[in-house]
Amino acid sequence: MSTKKRVTFGSKLGVVLATVGCAVGLGNIWRFPYMTGANGGAAFLLIYFVCIICLGLPVMITEFFIGRKSRRNAAGAFKVMAPGTKWSLIGYNGVFAAFFILGFYNVVAGWTLEYIYQALTNSLSGKSAEEFQRDFTLFSSGIFRPIFWTVLFGVMTHVIIVSGVKKGIERASKIMMPLLFLFLVILCVRSVTLPDASKGLEFLFKPDFSKINSSVVLSAMGQAFFSLSIGMGCLITYSSYFGKDTNLQKTALEVTILDTLVAILAGVMIFPAVFSFGIEPTAGPELVFITLPNVFNQLPMGGLWSLIFFILLGVAALTSTISLHEVATAYVHEEYHMLRSRAALWVSVGVLILGVFSSLSMGILKEYTIFGLTFFDFLDYITAKIMLPLGGMMICIYVGFRVDRKILKAELTNEGTTPFYFFNTYAFFMKYIAPIAIGLIFLNELGLIKIIQGFFE
Ligand code: PFF
Repeated sequence: MSTKKRVTFGSKLGVVLATVGCAVGLGNIWRFPYMTGANGGAAFLLIYFVCIICLGLPVMITEFFIGRKSRRNAAGAFKVMAPGTKWSLIGYNGVFAAFFILGFYNVVAGWTLEYIYQALTNSLSGKSAEEFQRDFTLFSSGIFRPIFWTVLFGVMTHVIIVSGVKKGIERASKIMMPLLFLFLVILCVRSVTLPDASKGLEFLFKPDFSKINSSVVLSAMGQAFFSLSIGMGCLITYSSYFGKDTNLQKTALEVTILDTLVAILAGVMIFPAVFSFGIEPTAGPELVFITLPNVFNQLPMGGLWSLIFFILLGVAALTSTISLHEVATAYVHEEYHMLRSRAALWVSVGVLILGVFSSLSMGILKEYTIFGLTFFDFLDYITAKIMLPLGGMMICIYVGFRVDRKILKAELTNEGTTPFYFFNTYAFFMKYIAPIAIGLIFLNELGLIKIIQGFFE
């Protein structure tokens, strides 16, 4: 185990807020609504909830266990806990996932910067829903402008990463997260009072079970993993900075509840407006960007509202890109004994190259597809729908079958000082339910279950 003294988060609130900062981001406010819209609404939401409770929460607690026990980065943790074994592949999967996610996440984060700029120059007011849609497509399929914002966002993340864990992450999260929450609530109120808002609420909350198929289930699972930042060791890295007295189970529960709440608020903010302004819920990655400006235009001083909102969204994205970057940087820094600043630079350069290609894949490189997906969609697909659930499954199998129950319980109860009433339930879900369910969802999506069924008919 590392004997180096590690920095830890300063306060209890700091722990929760920094972890919420990592979990809450574009995944909740940009990806959740567009996935819900593309996958049929309420039925997707229902499966998403089930995934959060049955898979997300157990995986998160398990990552906290690994991180604080080993006090190492995602890949190093397994070298410490299972030396000389292949379990460290879980960590490598996470480090690569961090790279790939940043490869498209920075592009969307860059879009928020463009919207901040547009709000500042008052270019968002007075447009119709069609005009917002047209202008977004024009902008995102362009060459220099979206790349410029993508690079700028990457540089911002880089600067915070090299300025240190505690100062950068904790300070930003503490102020901005509560403010974002407040803004979401206000925007929800505006959205549900728009004409025809009830259609949007119905779409979000009244399930149509005929919409459920294997791809909807895989998407909901992917969204749960992506949104909670689990399955790739991000929370292993974060919890390696937790203090000895941090209550791991309680922190996991709080982070999960807050993250899910933000996603639901985002849904309530978007869908009534989508239906009210006649936008297609299946619009895809642009959904939030073409919907929200319409809502702002319905508010007095709409320009100011959009400015503050996109700044907050940008900060929520930043606290997530910091955490993603940290996974890769901590790995390179600790495992290759490289200076932290140099490690961060390598990561930033790699991520920027991916970012340029995924931004261009919205426009001039649209025709170049991988398995039928643009580069942007491909990075999103392999991370959220494959690498994160696979990582989560392996984390559960490792801890479930390789770690002594007593060691697990001792760490999760802070050596018996904080009771864990549902420990056995948690252990059952972590050891059996989560790995089997994730495995079945994979098999189903690959069409293997149908083949097996056909075999017995
Ligand atoms: N959970 C973040 C979001 O919802 O935007 C994205 C993310 C951050 C995913 C960190 C994975 C991760 F490790």
